Amino acid sequence: MKAIEIAETGGPEKLKYVERPIPVMGENESLVDVLVAGVNFVDTYHRSGLYPRMLPFTPGVEGVGIIREISGTAPSGLSVGMRVGWVASTGGYADVATLPNQELIPIPEGIDDAHATALLLQGVTAHYLAVDSYKLKPGDLAIVHAGAGGVGLLLTQFIKSLGGVVIATASTDAKRKLCLENGADLAIEYSGFHEHVKDFSHGDGAHVVYDGIGKTTFDESLACVRPRGSLVIYGYASGPVPPIDLTKLTANSIFLSRPTLKHFISNREELLWRANEVFKAHLNGHMNVRIGGRYAIKNASQAHQDLEARTTTGKLILEM
Ligand SMILES: NC(=O)c1ccc[n+]([C@@H]2O[C@H](COP(=O)([O-])OP(=O)(O)OC[C@H]3O[C@@H](n4cnc5c(N)ncnc54)[C@H](OP(=O)(O)O)[C@@H]3O)[C@@H](O)[C@H]2O)c1
Repeated sequence: MKAIEIAETGGPEKLKYVERPIPVMGENESLVDVLVAGVNFVDTYHRSGLYPRMLPFTPGVEGVGIIREISGTAPSGLSVGMRVGWVASTGGYADVATLPNQELIPIPEGIDDAHATALLLQGVTAHYLAVDSYKLKPGDLAIVHAGAGGVGLLLTQFIKSLGGVVIATASTDAKRKLCLENGADLAIEYSGFHEHVKDFSHGDGAHVVYDGIGKTTFDESLACVRPRGSLVIYGYASGPVPPIDLTKLTANSIFLSRPTLKHFISNREELLWRANEVFKAHLNGHMNVRIGGRYAIKNASQAHQDLEARTTTGKLILEM
């Protein structure tokens, strides 16, 4: 099979295109012919070593493919030949993957492979952020950083469908235009963003700030939150947030959380529930997908380079 392998951590050049034998399935796993794999920011953390993994490994934590073979007992509804997606296990940057049966999600008719992939990690993340990390209510003001990114565009649309008000941040005019086209009420640059939020909210601040950028936005994000509001740090696109002094939360009695997806898809029932809610939102027009880039699998390093250089919008896909 063809695969991308990481034998040592580092920059995008560490993604090597290799030929490998087809992996052997373990008990209760399936062999899946991968059609498309999603590129996510977390893949860059695995590659750089920010989130350490055993080396060597094939990156990629989501994709869509066809089940070729099933070992052990398949959960009801799964069979050979079925089109499925998955999220969580690594090994997606390859044309064949072995995956735990419990993680396989049947993809409904009417959603193509690339769109389905976009709805997995990023769509399910948008769902848990707006439904659980902070329970969004109609009229709530939410700040969505990196609003033109993969998570950002889906989260903005989903919040709007729940009746929220969104201020999106993004680095360029073109990206801010995209945020507005996807439903943001206001799209602003990063410089001095907490002042814009204060002005927009007549001094009150936001009910919730969704911050996937981390290091460079943390302090201003904190300054945007209204009393008893929430700051949800869900990623580190600019680097990890340094240790903080908890007294910084006292001024506004802020709820600070640092959620990660695996705890919000903690069993098969929860995984399928969230994925199906997201597919429904997509089919109802509340989570339209923007495919921002398609790359042949052998060009995975270019996809990482583009993602980290902030030149991309929406979802990046690797085609097998
Ligand atoms: N915790 C979870 O469960 C979870 C799940 C999924 C994703 N995430 C996190 O969510 C964030 C977004 O992920 P994504 O895959 O959708 O990526 P993305 O938003 O498509 O790309 C990252 C964006 O972050 C912005 N950014 C700001 N500072 C940056 C910097 N120094 N370097 C690179 N980008 C920077 C850029 O947008 P601008 O140019 O507009 O600033 C860039 O396009 C990531 O931090 C990711 O780790 C977390």
